[in-house]
Parts: sequence; C-alpha cells; structure tokens
Amino acid sequence: MRVLLAGASGVVGRPLTALLAGAGHDVVGTTRSRSKAEAIRAAGAEPAIVDALDLPALEAVVAEARPEVVINQLTALPDALDFRDPDSLAATNRLRSEVGPALARMAAEAGARRLIAQSVAFFYAPVGDRVVSEDAPLMELPDGSPMAAGPPALRELERSALETPGIEGVILRYGYFYGPGTYYAADGSIAEQVRKRRFPVIGAGTGVFSFIHVDDAAAATLAALERGAPGAYNVSDDEPAPMSEWLPAFAEAIGAKRPRRVPVCLARLFAGKEAAGLATELRGASNAKARRELGWAPRYASWRQGFREALG
Ligand SMILES: NC(=O)c1ccc[n+]([C@@H]2O[C@H](COP(=O)([O-])OP(=O)(O)OC[C@H]3O[C@@H](n4cnc5c(N)ncnc54)[C@H](OP(=O)(O)O)[C@@H]3O)[C@@H](O)[C@H]2O)c1
Repeated sequence: MRVLLAGASGVVGRPLTALLAGAGHDVVGTTRSRSKAEAIRAAGAEPAIVDALDLPALEAVVAEARPEVVINQLTALPDALDFRDPDSLAATNRLRSEVGPALARMAAEAGARRLIAQSVAFFYAPVGDRVVSEDAPLMELPDGSPMAAGPPALRELERSALETPGIEGVILRYGYFYGPGTYYAADGSIAEQVRKRRFPVIGAGTGVFSFIHVDDAAAATLAALERGAPGAYNVSDDEPAPMSEWLPAFAEAIGAKRPRRVPVCLARLFAGKEAAGLATELRGASNAKARRELGWAPRYASWRQGFREALG
C-alpha cells in the first residue's frame, strides 16, 4: 500500500516507519531536517523534506506521493512541558488546528482512502467512571487557562479527519507515551524531574493515567491501516492506573527515590491548576474498542511490566 507518513522522524514515526516498511508498504515519510531524512531512508522509506506549515509545499508532497493512506503524526512539543506556559502547546495547537484539516483535504484530493490522525487519550472530561470509552465527553478548559487552546485544537483535528468528504477518518487517541525519545524515557524530562524529586504525587494521586509504549502505539497504527471502521480509538495499555500507583513504580524503574507527596493547594502554585487537576481527576481510557476492532494487543499489556523492562 502507498502510505504518506507526516512526522516520520517523531517518537511514534520512527518505529512506525520501520514497521510499515517491514510489512512491505511503500512509504513516503516527512521531516524538516536533512539529517533525519537519512534515518528515514535507512528505515526503509522515501524521505520528503517539508515544513508542514508551508501548506503549498506540503500539498505538493502529498500529491506526488499519491498515497492510499495518510498518517498524521505531527506534533511539536517542547522538551519539557510547562502547564503554566501557553507557548508550550502553541506550535502543536497550530499543527492540529490548521495543518490537520489542510492535510485531511489534501489526502482526499490526492485520492487517499483513509486518514489516520494522532490524538490523545487524556482529554476526557473529569466526570463519570474512572475509566471511560471513546464516546465519553471531552475536556473543556476555562478561558484564561494557559492550556485553554489545547482541547479546541484537538477537537478540530479530530473533526476534520472524521468529516472530510471522501475519506475514512481514523483517530488514534494514544495514552501517555513512554519509550525512546519520550518525556517518560529514562533520559526524558519527567524522569529527570522524578530523580530530582520535583514530580510528586499530588493530593491522594487519584487521577487515572493511561500509558502506551511507543512501539505498541506504532503497532496499533499499522493495524489501523486496514482494520477498524472510521471513528476514534483509545490506544493505551490494559491497566489505567492512579498516579499514587504508577508514579512510585516509575521512580523505582528509573532508579530514583520514592516520590514525595504534596497537597493539592501547593501543587496548584508550583505546577499550575491544570497539572494538579490531572493528578487528582484525570479519567483513564479503555482500550477495549482498539483491541476488538483493530485486532491489536499491546506487547506491554501494563505499564508495570513496560516500565520495568523498557526503562531500566
Ligand atoms: N501521547 C503522548 O503522550 C504524546 C504525544 C505527542 C508527543 N508527546 C511527547 O512530546 C515530546 C516531544 O515530542 P514532539 O511533539 O517533538 O514529537 P516528536 O514525536 O518528537 O515529533 C513529531 C513529528 O512532527 C514533526 N514536525 C513537527 N513540526 C513540524 C513541522 N512544522 N513541519 C513538519 N514536521 C513537523 C517532526 O519532524 P521533524 O522535527 O523531523 O521536522 C516529527 O517527525 C516527546 O517526549 C513525546 O513523548 C507525547
């Protein structure tokens, strides 16, 4: 199958390029950088160097690739995310709200059958069950919140993939990534904060997080090439878990001291209201639909095993 992978050099893009090429697909993978283009070629794909914000240039790449499937893995997050800084998400919001819909239109115009787009499994509203499925209501943040533009950008990305005429939109809502290059890698920014004991359990740590190893995220994306009706799928492991459980296990896996506990009021001051809210109220994501309809199962069924085996 001819596949255009936008973001082939990213944390999912790298393992995904190798999986796609290994499965015999004919892949064009994008990056902005010449040096990363060589790695894309070495993984078995044809690199295309393009800045996705340059829409005419992106359109030329898509048209030339004549893809049957387009995969959007474009994000541009800083090395360390700061929930108090609105600029932290600005570039990614633009990729989601401007480039996402444009890429959906370009995919349809180039004759692609399917568009698979990267979303997240941690923007469900903090209401209802502790673990929710894809039809649960999504988060909204009040105007004035530094992260307020995040949920509307994700909504626009998802809406455009699902509603662009002539194309099957598949939204993969990935859990929190761990594995090479991620915030939760042993050399990632969260691991660094945990080692410095600056990433505590907040309040009772009741917020439920859903994790996924990037290799498992890539495998689910490969499965979505041919399987699954259009719609949204949570791509996370089998064990959504409260912060009070996973954070001490994460610290142990990276050889750090046990995390401290801090009260919510203090966390709101040093990490921001949103971070404190996630730590206490976040809903977990059920992967039942992805397992059933994509015929996919995570190799790291639980972060318990994944943190131990992939981070140590
Ligand atoms: N679900 C999750 O937990 C989640 C989701 C996303 C990101 N993250 C985290 O965020 C951190 C940083 O990730 P990241 O956002 O930099 O993602 P990344 O996975 O490192 O890169 C994303 C891809 O987007 C491409 N890209 C970005 N801006 C582009 C542009 N203007 N034009 C064309 N391509 C562009 C990058 O290409 P080039 O740079 O090669 O041009 C790269 O291929 C990682 O730790 C990751 O774990 C987590």
